[in-house]
Amino acid sequence: MNNMFVLSKHKDLLLNILEKYGTPLYVYFTDIIKERIMNLKEILDQNFENYLIAYACKACSLLYICKYISSFGLGAEVVSDGELYIALKAGFERNKIVFDGVSKSDYEIKYALSQDIYTINCESFDEVKVISSIAEGLGMDVNIGLRVNPEIKLQTHNYLKTGTKYNKFGIDFNDAIMILDLINKIKNVKLKGFHFHLGSNIKSPEPFIVAIDKISKLIHLAFKKGYKIEYLDIGGGIPILSNKEGLHNYLFPILEFIRKKLLSNVEDLRIILEPGRSIVGDSAVLLTRVNYVKNVDKRKWILIDAGMNDLIRPALYGVFHPIECLSCVSNRIENYSIGGPICESSDVFAKDIKLPTVRRGDILAFLRVGAYGISMSSNYNSRRRPAVVVIENNNFRLIKRRENLEDLISNEIV
Ligand SMILES: Cc1ncc(COP(=O)(O)O)c(C=O)c1O
Repeated sequence: MNNMFVLSKHKDLLLNILEKYGTPLYVYFTDIIKERIMNLKEILDQNFENYLIAYACKACSLLYICKYISSFGLGAEVVSDGELYIALKAGFERNKIVFDGVSKSDYEIKYALSQDIYTINCESFDEVKVISSIAEGLGMDVNIGLRVNPEIKLQTHNYLKTGTKYNKFGIDFNDAIMILDLINKIKNVKLKGFHFHLGSNIKSPEPFIVAIDKISKLIHLAFKKGYKIEYLDIGGGIPILSNKEGLHNYLFPILEFIRKKLLSNVEDLRIILEPGRSIVGDSAVLLTRVNYVKNVDKRKWILIDAGMNDLIRPALYGVFHPIECLSCVSNRIENYSIGGPICESSDVFAKDIKLPTVRRGDILAFLRVGAYGISMSSNYNSRRRPAVVVIENNNFRLIKRRENLEDLISNEIV
């Protein structure tokens, strides 16, 4: 099952739904989320006894979706007090919550400590010291991990790389070795694991293997120094793979490497994965209405009612989301560029793509927008953020209402 399949299956239903809720409108299909979770679990079950899938809430932190995901027993990866708050509301178990983040504020650390979550992955020795002193103030001991930068060469968009050299993320590999001699002097901090996150949409498994190879050296060293290391967290980055076989082919070399390289020596090591995109990316479409079709210097522009505030990925990363016309009736295929209503030249979703003849009022669907779509939406140009509907077992329900004009100023004090 994939985005395209559910789009054609539910085409009439979608057209009805948007009559009711208007556009722009995000529509999530929970069946796809379920399928992706089951596929991942099945592959992991075949390989590991002790693992945790910590869903990266940043991909889509809608409460309904998070609740749905937590109902499969997954954990959560959070990077702010807000995500932690939502994860707890969504029912993720505390001992399955991992707190990451490159620049955690003191109030976020305090909140995380007070919620008794599984671990906090630290990105510098200074952060370890800050956590220690906040925990001391609360009279607590704290479990931490170290996020190490494996400094890997990657083929993905520059903005999606986090595990490459000179990145702001993580601790340099050599510094991590030094830090191992310092952490055991801090009484209330217990080093329990290592973490890395290479980036998003990592096309092949090889970079994971190179990174795991590097980090396993640290794990062995840590054991030698007397630390009781409990986990290796390999972050997110798995691309959208719609069938089980594709996911298996991608993951198997990574999991096999972990088993041979690590688990043969460190039997009860818990393997943590933090997938976001691979779970929800393919599970939503964004529906938008065509306001105008205009000719500009022999080019046809479709101007729609969704903007980069609703879906920023094309403007931010130059990502192309496939586009389908749900209402077009013509057999004629034309060349179009597609732009939104925002006063920015980057508010463009596609250039020179082919679609059946499009007219004012037609409905377009952007595919594969379940990850980093609604969660990256904003109020730029004082636009109201869109509504979200879920389709579950052929029924639909509104899970987030469209913002109204009052919402735009509701936090302001004049
Ligand atoms: C630390 C961390 N973990 C997990 C993820 C999820 O990545 P993805 O959605 O590519 O699986 C991210 C994404 O930026 C991240 O920064």
